[in-house]
Amino acid sequence: MSHSLSVAGLSKSYGSGPDAVRVLEELSFDVGENEFVAIVGPSGCGKTTLLKCIAGVVDYDGGDIVTSGGPITGPSDDIAMVFQDFRLLPWKTVLENVVVGADIQPDRTDRQPEAAAREWIENVGLAGSEDAYPAELSGGMKQRVGLARALAVDPDILLMDEPFGSLDAQTRDRLQTELLQLWDTEQKTILFVTHDINEAVYLADCVLVLSAKPATITTTLDVNIDRPRWDRRVDIEGGSEFKRLRTRLREELGLTVS
Ligand SMILES: Nc1ncnc2c1ncn2[C@@H]1O[C@H](COP(=O)(O)OP(=O)(O)OP(=O)(O)O)[C@@H](O)[C@H]1O
Ligand SMILES: [Mg+2]
Repeated sequence: MSHSLSVAGLSKSYGSGPDAVRVLEELSFDVGENEFVAIVGPSGCGKTTLLKCIAGVVDYDGGDIVTSGGPITGPSDDIAMVFQDFRLLPWKTVLENVVVGADIQPDRTDRQPEAAAREWIENVGLAGSEDAYPAELSGGMKQRVGLARALAVDPDILLMDEPFGSLDAQTRDRLQTELLQLWDTEQKTILFVTHDINEAVYLADCVLVLSAKPATITTTLDVNIDRPRWDRRVDIEGGSEFKRLRTRLREELGLTVS
């Protein structure tokens, strides 16, 4: 299942009084059911903060965040987040880390947490590593565990915070492809924060560009490139629409050399 998401007039400051730092300024956008939206913006502008507000793990000062399942008032099993720094529990095995995600749904008697966890471990290509500890895994493997844990929650909305940012180019390409394949089969609404413009255009239906702090949305760019994309990456990246969008995003982000 997937949900739509509506963010309206979202504002958020850290701290209070004269020391308060405004991070999000009246942000508004809508994400359709099963849509894949990428978010780009300068470092420190508030991207992680935005995802945390949507995940219900930090409070915000004003505005509304509503999904088709209802308003967000705190952490919910409708929404799961994949963190840039994996956030695995070092004393737990791969299987135990993923079970943490599956366990979030104790009310579902139709699901066995361990069976669900094993299935996701296999789906992300980690079969055979169930009993390994995080310290024994490569960066790419840890990121797969983080992804499996989030997917084991069976969320309607998946929030991904620069999930492939720390990986080598080859592993990143492979995981991007696998994510698109997975998104083809699983109905999920995805918000994907990235610093990588190519990644944003390759993956998303729509790219939101945020300004420097306090973040507002400066541009919304639709990516009209046919799907599925995962089986013709080279063609897409060589295509004129891909290049046009990439140039446009570079301009929006002030990355062009004049
Ligand atoms: N818990 C916190 N308390 C106080 N200030 C914070 C806190 N978390 C983030 N900030 C500040 O809020 C601003 C936005 O941070 P955030 O992590 O959301 O940015 P970001 O866009 O995700 O950055 P990056 O691209 O580097 O990951 C930054 O100036 C940061 O210093
Ligand atoms: Mg961040």
